[in-house]
Amino acid sequence: IKLARKASGPGRYEIISLEGSFHGRTLATVAATGQQKFHKGFEPLPEGFRHAPFDDMAALENLITDRTCAILCEPLQGESGVRPLGREYLKAIRDLCDSRKLLLIFDEVQVGMGRTGTLFAYEQFGVTPDIMTSAKALANGLPIGAMLAREEVAVAFDPGSHASTFGGNPIVCAAAVVCVKTMLAEGFLAAVREKGAYLAGCLAEIARRYPTIAQGVRGVGLIQALTLQPAAQVHGPAIINRLFEKGVLLNFAGNSVLRCIPPLVVSKAEIDEFIAVLDKVLGEFVGA
Ligand SMILES: Cc1ncc(COP(=O)(O)O)c(C=O)c1O
Repeated sequence: IKLARKASGPGRYEIISLEGSFHGRTLATVAATGQQKFHKGFEPLPEGFRHAPFDDMAALENLITDRTCAILCEPLQGESGVRPLGREYLKAIRDLCDSRKLLLIFDEVQVGMGRTGTLFAYEQFGVTPDIMTSAKALANGLPIGAMLAREEVAVAFDPGSHASTFGGNPIVCAAAVVCVKTMLAEGFLAAVREKGAYLAGCLAEIARRYPTIAQGVRGVGLIQALTLQPAAQVHGPAIINRLFEKGVLLNFAGNSVLRCIPPLVVSKAEIDEFIAVLDKVLGEFVGA
């Protein structure tokens, strides 16, 4: 956000993000987040953030003003229910940024670092951002975040423009180096894609077995969601709690899907074990 503003010059500070997005818990990223429930209690929010309806190019374009500097999105919305942005949609956003001279920012905090089966999700979506954020799996649990940018954009920052007291400390950076090397080692990402396809297939089978509860499956790589039927969504929290009692940790994302984000090193046997538990638990909710 700071880089997009600084690189765009005075008077151009507005950032448009998408409804349903989640961008974090600092005050600025709360404001960028396109879900009102995350805004509540923190008003007045910093100015300069606007939200466009999901999958609506005309509405997005209408929000652009002389003050706009960037469009910010997750290539796949994680928190709001594992919603991939279509390739055409993302391409149209890229084209819009190019024609209106806006920066395109991808938030890959959740879907980057191998989660989708490539190091970054954008590699599979056919669109390259100007600025990208990364964190979470970057140091596999140790607290680190990173921002990457094209050279022409990055030069807008001088030394000291952006830093944090413990940012870039040797311990988390050493962990991040090991994680990146591990993910880039021969076969690692291919295995994520293979296990992702396997998990998606197992979830699709579950959806067939429980048509009154589950609607289908969506996701990329090892971020997969079992979408719930509208009438079954009321049971989402109870299903999650029951799974937790049986040792399985899932999230009821976007109040509509059971989100599965297993460790990237998960084995097929562990996926089978999870599916067996899910099968049992959903069985308890048939006719509920
Ligand atoms: C897409 C996305 N962006 C950013 C964040 C970072 O959030 P926080 O500010 O809580 O570290 C998250 C965390 O879930 C996320 O999913």
